[in-house]
Amino acid sequence: MVDDLDMLRASIEAAIAEAADLRALDAVRVSALGKSGEVTGLLKTLGALPPEERRARGAQVNALKLEVERALDSRRTTLEAFALDAKLAAERMDVTLPPRPHPPTGPESGSIHPISRTMEELIALFGAMGFRVAEGPDIEGDWHNFSALNIPDHHPARQDHDTFYLTPPEPGGRRPVLRTHTSPVQIRTMLEEEPPIRVIVPGRTWRADHDATHSPMFHQVEGLVIGRDIHMGHLKGTLVDFLRAFFGIADLPVRFRSSYFPFTEPSMEVDIGWSRRTGELGQGGDWLEILGSGMVHPKVLANAGIDPKVWQGFAFGMGIERITMLKHGIPDLRPFYEADLRWLRHYATSPLSPFTLHDAA
Ligand code: PHE
Repeated sequence: MVDDLDMLRASIEAAIAEAADLRALDAVRVSALGKSGEVTGLLKTLGALPPEERRARGAQVNALKLEVERALDSRRTTLEAFALDAKLAAERMDVTLPPRPHPPTGPESGSIHPISRTMEELIALFGAMGFRVAEGPDIEGDWHNFSALNIPDHHPARQDHDTFYLTPPEPGGRRPVLRTHTSPVQIRTMLEEEPPIRVIVPGRTWRADHDATHSPMFHQVEGLVIGRDIHMGHLKGTLVDFLRAFFGIADLPVRFRSSYFPFTEPSMEVDIGWSRRTGELGQGGDWLEILGSGMVHPKVLANAGIDPKVWQGFAFGMGIERITMLKHGIPDLRPFYEADLRWLRHYATSPLSPFTLHDAA
């Protein structure tokens, strides 16, 4: 009786040793331990034996089963290692091969559009001052774009010739708009977050305007700072530091001029010094308007669920095309959207030299 087990053990172990891959090994497992396998068959015969024989024979058959399982496991480990080696050998690559020549702004390689580049710069420069980036939808409700910002129903910004209106969802309802500025994201941010808040919002905006310096789609960056003690000194310091860093002119003249926006009080437009004659920034005695700003109107804070007796802050908004044109001396806005490769090769930047704060120093 013991002999037949020894022979079976020997034949199964030989089959395991011969299995050349995982699939062959699995066939051996099935023929030994599967439902109608040889070892399984032996286990089934135990029940018919007289009790005293059954105990001894049972122990032997179970020992055989354990040995077979162990042998299968160890062969599987070996075969898996073989398979991995073969895969690694097949997929080997030569990391010493030199890369193909790659002109940074050549015809085959992409480059960073000046608008994207300015956005990267804005995010880096304001990021260094603790601002994070917030976003909002391009299609806005009337409330977010106008009413919550204290823009009354009769305000000219709402007029059809300035604003792209969409069909209202319900008959007689207020029409959704393609946002006319990034300021609605002030409202969204204040509704979503507890102050203190410090965000910039680069994004697309729309107005029905089209000439050498206006496009129906353009970009703005909004800024919003809310805190308990935020005052106009913070507004001025932030914007002066930003403008000087962005234009790379350490002593760029900056002028704050009283103005009006429905959503700020007081409101200020900000001008930088330049020469009207040569177009050069930083000298020449003329002033160029560059952005709108002010202390967030208490009504706007209240509309966005923030207590104006506890919190206050400032906001600003500027056109990304405009500051990009001024920085790089680009005279016409239309080519920004014409995908003319000659223009792009001239004004775009290499993706391999991302903007860092070092560039602004
Ligand atoms: N939203 C204004 C515009 O589009 C700019 C602005 C933003 C002014 C924030 C003041 C404060 O002209």
